[in-house]
Amino acid sequence: MKRLLLTSALPYANGYIHLGHCAGAYLPADIYARYSRLAGKNVLYVCGSDEHGVAITIAADKEKVTPGQIIDKYHAANKEAFEKFGMSFDIYSRTSTAQHHRTAKEFFADFLAKGLLAEKEEDQFYDSRANMFLPDRYVEGTCPNCGYDHARGDQCDSCGAYYDQLDLKNPRSLVSGEKPEVRKTTHWYMKFNELQPFLESYIESHAKEWKDNVIQQTRSWLKQGLAPRAITRDLDWGVKLDGIEGLPADKARGKALYVWFDAVLGYISITKEYTENTGLPDSWKEWWQSAGTEYIAFIGKDNIVFHTLIFPAMLHARGNGYILPENVPANEFLNLEGQKFSKSRNWSIDLRDFCTDFPQPQYTDALRYTLAMNFPESKDSDFTWKDFQARNNNELSAIYGNFVNRTLQFINKNFGGSVPSLPEKYSDLNEKWKELVLYFESCPAGTDIMGSLPNDLAEYFNVNDLTVIFSLWAGNKIASGLYSKFRFRDAITETMNIARAANKYFNDEEPWKTAKANPGECAKTLYICSQLVNSFSILFAPIVPNSSKTIAKFLYLTPVTGEPGESAPQDFSLWESSVFPLLRENSPILSPELLFLKIEDDVIARQVEKLGSMGAEPKEETDFIEIDDFKKVKLRIGKVLEAANLPKSKKLIKMIVDIGTEKRQVLAGVAEYYKPEELIGRSIVVVANLKPAKLMGAESQGMMLAASDDSGNLCFVAPERDIIKAGGEVR
Ligand code: MF3
Ligand code: ZN
Repeated sequence: MKRLLLTSALPYANGYIHLGHCAGAYLPADIYARYSRLAGKNVLYVCGSDEHGVAITIAADKEKVTPGQIIDKYHAANKEAFEKFGMSFDIYSRTSTAQHHRTAKEFFADFLAKGLLAEKEEDQFYDSRANMFLPDRYVEGTCPNCGYDHARGDQCDSCGAYYDQLDLKNPRSLVSGEKPEVRKTTHWYMKFNELQPFLESYIESHAKEWKDNVIQQTRSWLKQGLAPRAITRDLDWGVKLDGIEGLPADKARGKALYVWFDAVLGYISITKEYTENTGLPDSWKEWWQSAGTEYIAFIGKDNIVFHTLIFPAMLHARGNGYILPENVPANEFLNLEGQKFSKSRNWSIDLRDFCTDFPQPQYTDALRYTLAMNFPESKDSDFTWKDFQARNNNELSAIYGNFVNRTLQFINKNFGGSVPSLPEKYSDLNEKWKELVLYFESCPAGTDIMGSLPNDLAEYFNVNDLTVIFSLWAGNKIASGLYSKFRFRDAITETMNIARAANKYFNDEEPWKTAKANPGECAKTLYICSQLVNSFSILFAPIVPNSSKTIAKFLYLTPVTGEPGESAPQDFSLWESSVFPLLRENSPILSPELLFLKIEDDVIARQVEKLGSMGAEPKEETDFIEIDDFKKVKLRIGKVLEAANLPKSKKLIKMIVDIGTEKRQVLAGVAEYYKPEELIGRSIVVVANLKPAKLMGAESQGMMLAASDDSGNLCFVAPERDIIKAGGEVR
């Protein structure tokens, strides 16, 4: 049987998982894992906490605890939240295990022995008060490019420039606040440049199947040419270099592997841990070193190069038959109510908070469904609470839930709580159903399927029966094709369409009429409907597994939702068999409770209110200036004469503004807040003596004042009464 190895990016154990993470690398993988298990594949889905690197030590500094305390806290919290969310990992472990350290060191030692590592001495900032070399994120200073005063060690948040740490002006250590000195230190560089030809052919061999965003980004890195990269750091946290064969102890002292080097190897070490637990310690090789395994790495877009280039390079360099990712279906980012997730502004929804506020499993399902219908598969997308409510109320509840409930209720009322037994006329319905599906299967693409239906089938089924069975068969098939291309949104839409067709079937058959007039026909209708309910519990299981479990309870069946350890026969595709009738006549049915409850407006309003509140407290101003400093800024009332969106820019509006003495062209980044036409004729405060600047190829001769807050609101600053003429002075 085909083995399918799935991994999701190992999340840093330095914070809580939020919905953006879920939509990026976790839920897509879980849906795929469940789908694949249901389709009869032998799946191993591996994940765990990434516990190393500066991300962890900085979080520890911030919370004033040790890195060990940080990782234990967040590892446990995230593991639990993932469980509640229904993540079907075969194992969720961590990178602080002995197995992991051993595995990472083995890779390093192997590369050292193969001559793939170059030892280099380089200059780096050193904090002599704290006695440590300073990783990039531990230094701050003035940006060499734009002069921004709080630029980070290797990157400026203001202008976006990347630079070498030593180019930073007025550097300050964030550990002691002191000016760091420059000291020599030795690091090991992996010669990724030597692996470039291999990587090029690897990437090109997948260019057709992989997602565009993944291929484009990877190609652009290859085009720049891969350089040797330091894979060690002066850090006292992580996989230490001590005890590595071929490395003298004094050179190894104080050094750890660069977090990315060890993190990707976590996938392997955690697999080893899994196979040890099952009592077959060597069988990890069947997963990682066997051509019979297909490996898919799920990630968010910020991790692309590490999974398309760095990790494959490491696996290839190691040899030993290591397999490479067959696909790296990276998602873009999810936004929240139109803005980026931001923990510091409290513009975020942590998974654990969601699970606390919505503890019932059906709401977890609603969240999974809403996220999945908004996966940022090809571009950034948005989660809103309104959409969550609408998806739950108008789709899960009104379509899927409605069909299940009306079917089971009708059966309880009219058929004594068991699958109707078929009348004489329909005693061979199962065989005919199978024949019908086989006929669908046999039709070449482009056939007029219903038009060329064999006579016996056309006479046996009425048009409603034919339509709904066709929808089930076609929807199942199309969804499978979409799943295998990682097009989850479309796959799930197909599945929901089958549920729509099922409701139409119920309506068109009018069983409430046939119940008296034609009981045999009514039994057939409800027999087919109960088969559909059962099929839905399979087809919806990857997305809303809790609901499938509830249906299994209604039908007195053992739930099968694509979780590890379920007793589905191996090599058997329950997914494919779900297009056939699987429930026996007369099998009992429990009186159902509602599958999905509606979510009321006030519940949603309360959640919306929470966003952005208790954000950072406003800091007291202490940086006073002289009145003369203020007077240097010439502020005038400007009247907007013309306004239009700047072509090709999502943010900028171009305005012609009358400032009394002259007309100026001013660009303002407000297109997300104002429509150009609403600005024309307005009076707004303008900085009149600002040096002209070029923005996206157009000149801006001034700046318009705007106010903003940390909930993402923004508006222009305008005179309080419209009595001041253009050019009026603002003081
Ligand atoms: N910890 C990283 C992050 O959260 C992802 C690591 S993915 C791995 O961005 F492959 F390195 F594990
Ligand atoms: Zn800058």
